[in-house]
Order: sequence, then C-alpha cells, then structure tokens
Amino acid sequence: MMPRHLAIIMDGNGRWAKAKGLSRSDGHKAGTEAAKAIVTKCRKLGIKHLTLYTFSKENWARPKDEIAQLFSLLTVFLKNELLSLCEQDIRLNVLGELSDFPFGVKQVVAHTMKKTQHCSSMTLNLALNYSGRDELVRACKKMISAGMKAEQITEETLSENLYTAGQPDPDLIIRTSGEQRLSNYLLFQAAYSELYFTDVFWPDFTPEELEKALNDFTKRQRRFGKTGEQV
Ligand code: IPE
Ligand code: IPE
Ligand code: MG
Repeated sequence: MMPRHLAIIMDGNGRWAKAKGLSRSDGHKAGTEAAKAIVTKCRKLGIKHLTLYTFSKENWARPKDEIAQLFSLLTVFLKNELLSLCEQDIRLNVLGELSDFPFGVKQVVAHTMKKTQHCSSMTLNLALNYSGRDELVRACKKMISAGMKAEQITEETLSENLYTAGQPDPDLIIRTSGEQRLSNYLLFQAAYSELYFTDVFWPDFTPEELEKALNDFTKRQRRFGKTGEQV
C-alpha cells in the first residue's frame, strides 16, 4: 500500500558536502535538486500528501549566512518551480509561522500558494519555521481564543487546529543521514507513523532510494494497538 501521507526529514546536506570537499551551501543546493526529483516521483506514485522538513524553528540557531543561503535557495526553488507545480497539479502549503521570514521569502511563498491553491493531485507541505511543540502550543491558544470549553477539546478538535488540519496523519516518516530522531517534527501527527531511517545523505536520496523505503513500508504490519492476529 502506498502511504497517503509521506513526511520526510531531509537531513545530511552538510555532511554530504563535507565528504566531497564542498561548502555547506553546495550541499543545500544539491539537496534542493534531490527534493525536486522526490516531489515529482511522489506525484507520479499517487501519494496525495507530501511533507518536507525544510527549516525548523531551531534552525534559526545556525550561522546567519547559512540561513540567508537557505532562504535564497527556497526563493529560487519556488520561483523556478511554479510552472512545474501547476503542470503537475501540486498545491503548495506551508506548515509553520511565516511571519518571521524576510519580506521577499514571505511574498514568494504566498504567491506560490495562491497560484496553486486549486491544484488537487497532491499537496506539498513545506515545514518552514516549524516546531511540533510550538504547533501544539499555538493550537491550544487558538482554541482558547475561540472561546472553546474544556469539553469541546478533543483529539479531533486539537488536530483541526494544527497546521495539518484536514490532512491525514503521516503513514510513513523517512529520515536520511543516519540520525534516528524526530527533531520536533509532527509530534502529534506522528503518533502511529511508521519510521524509516537510512544512512544515505539527503542529496543522494534518489527516487530509487524512495522506492526502497516504500517497499519496506509495504512489509510493515500496522497494528494501532491490536494484536498481530487481529489485523
Ligand atoms: C539538512 O541538512 C538541511 C537543513 C536542516 C536545513 P543539514 O544542514 O542539517 O546537514 P547536516 O546534518 O549538517 O549534515
Ligand atoms: C532537522 O534537521 C530539520 C530539517 C531537516 C529542516 P536538523 O539537522 O536541524 O536536526 P538536528 O539538529 O540534527 O536534530
Ligand atoms: Mg542536520
């Protein structure tokens, strides 16, 4: 079975570059190319929701010039890919607080979201300035501001106040580069996600590597608390 929602932690750009004697910025550039190929592959495979961890709230702790390079790559990526996203019928969505971004970045993100808002073959979520804990705090604040009573707060209403409102929880979360942690990614939504870790650095994560992960996923038995005999 194909996951309805695939979420990826695109990690290892820096180490990929270091191993090749290149700069971190070259690593991020190569990472962008890898992302492009994965988006197209997921669209072809019929995956309806793809979420890419693009910039975490914690990534603000990185050197200023690296952050500037990441934003510049994101801006160029969105400008270059707008036509292709429309042609592939892919809707762009953002998980995270956009208001902290420089004006130019906000503008291009908003423009791409608007131009692709009616696309329906796949939703591409970019987790940008994203933190799972912060998302939960924000959801609580939203519900309180809306005057909700304690008894109205349920797993469903909480879920509807997350950035992923209306989308299924990720069936599979892939993390590249050998690290085995969530790094504050989709904490609520990942409750029953299958996890796949690979040592491959993100720039080397080709559509073939994705197929390996998807093949592995099809062999998993998802139990959701039941016994192996019940499912
Ligand atoms: C992932 O690669 C990209 C972002 C987090 C923006 P890294 O930059 O984290 O690469 P490593 O982990 O240093 O190799
Ligand atoms: C997670 O990668 C965030 C993104 C891929 C955007 P990091 O490289 O920031 O994660 P840690 O700090 O190693 O956990
Ligand atoms: Mg990293």
